[in-house]
Amino acid sequence: MNDSSKKREHWATRAGFVLATAGSAVGLGNIWRFPYMTGEYGGAAFILIYLLAVLLLGYPLIVNEMVLGRAAQRNPVGVFKVLAPNSPWWLVGALGVFTGFIILSYYGVVAGWSLAYIYKVVIATVVPGIDHARVFQDHIGSVWEPILWQALFMILTVGIIAAGVVKGIQRWSMVLMPVLFVLLLVLIVRSVTLPGAEEGLVYYLRPDFSKVTGRTLLAALAQAFFSLSLGMGAIMTYGSYLDNKDEIPSNAMIVAGLDTGVALLAGFALFPAIFALGFEPSAGPGLAFITLPAVFAQMPLGAFFGVLFFILLAIAALTSAISLLEAVTAWLMDEKGWSRKRAAVVMGVVIFIVGLPATLGYSVLKDFSFPGLNKDLLDTYDWISNSIFLPVGGFLMAIFTGYVWGAKRATDEANKGHNRFKIGRWWAFLIRYAVPVLIFFVMALGIYDTFFR
Ligand code: PHE
Repeated sequence: MNDSSKKREHWATRAGFVLATAGSAVGLGNIWRFPYMTGEYGGAAFILIYLLAVLLLGYPLIVNEMVLGRAAQRNPVGVFKVLAPNSPWWLVGALGVFTGFIILSYYGVVAGWSLAYIYKVVIATVVPGIDHARVFQDHIGSVWEPILWQALFMILTVGIIAAGVVKGIQRWSMVLMPVLFVLLLVLIVRSVTLPGAEEGLVYYLRPDFSKVTGRTLLAALAQAFFSLSLGMGAIMTYGSYLDNKDEIPSNAMIVAGLDTGVALLAGFALFPAIFALGFEPSAGPGLAFITLPAVFAQMPLGAFFGVLFFILLAIAALTSAISLLEAVTAWLMDEKGWSRKRAAVVMGVVIFIVGLPATLGYSVLKDFSFPGLNKDLLDTYDWISNSIFLPVGGFLMAIFTGYVWGAKRATDEANKGHNRFKIGRWWAFLIRYAVPVLIFFVMALGIYDTFFR
């Protein structure tokens, strides 16, 4: 049931839309994931592949999602119902909403860790005798505490979404994103000016092409989707709050640029400090939560910089989490006629519950892993959504625009508004051929590498 009598909210300003969308894109993916992936998958070699993925897949797909959202003025499921009525294409939107659900469920867990860390380090500086290098291991190993912090993070997310597009999402993005940029700069300056910082830069940036395999390509592709919030309809939902006069091609470019910039810069905040203080970067997700706290514990004024870092992480997570919840909320509002508040609260609770196994994967469910995957539960949620669902979603959205709705129509739609920069035939070419073919081959290769070697 569509409640078209109520007018759809629209972004109040261009900056509001750009910062909200950049807020969605810049998240744990940039600060928690990108640096450790770069370190693990061959430094500058990985960065190069990643940049190609952003240019060839990321940019065209951001434009695509913004265009579809604006053209239909609906949530991800509604987009396909409006643009291709009486066809099964709405299932693509449904897969997207479901994926958003899964991502947010474990996202809240990691974000909760950041909040807990901030609190505990502050406590540790006033109560002597707490070893804040160990704060994290103790924290995730306990049962109730991480759940409480995860709940708190979900409450913040629900609160912002319940307040609406302009009064919630836009307002908070305008406040939080500038703070995020400043924090990141402070941390980079601290990190690169430590004596011995060069070694970290070498580790981060030295290309190692021997690490480039099918699995690396899939990792870069998955990371590009995740980092740019693509393939599940978050950008589509934000696009549905755009007016016809708003520019899409240039705004999409700014968002892609900011997101990529922050990801690259995060490595400069992390690796120089890690090496300068004599640590080895741990491979994998432990980098931010296990290695870094140890690094901060050694650094002069480390508690201060540690708190800044985890505030940065929490802000990045919050502005992304709201976009995930907004996609789900918009679906219930548009398609089922729910009120915004009810949709946000009910979904917040359900998503929190779905996330519980991921939290408990470090305590009660520590020894559980799906056969053949060899990942803890949180990594499993992460891997399935990023390596499978998002690329499949992006693939189908490209096919939809390229061959069902029409690339020409989409190009015209994107170029509405008073654009200084317009997209052209090259965009249609990317959407029809390059994007689907690349996604298909990279996924096939990566899955083969992961399971059959
Ligand atoms: N882009 C976010 C990040 O980099 C994650 C995200 C994925 C947000 C999909 C919304 C949709 O952390």
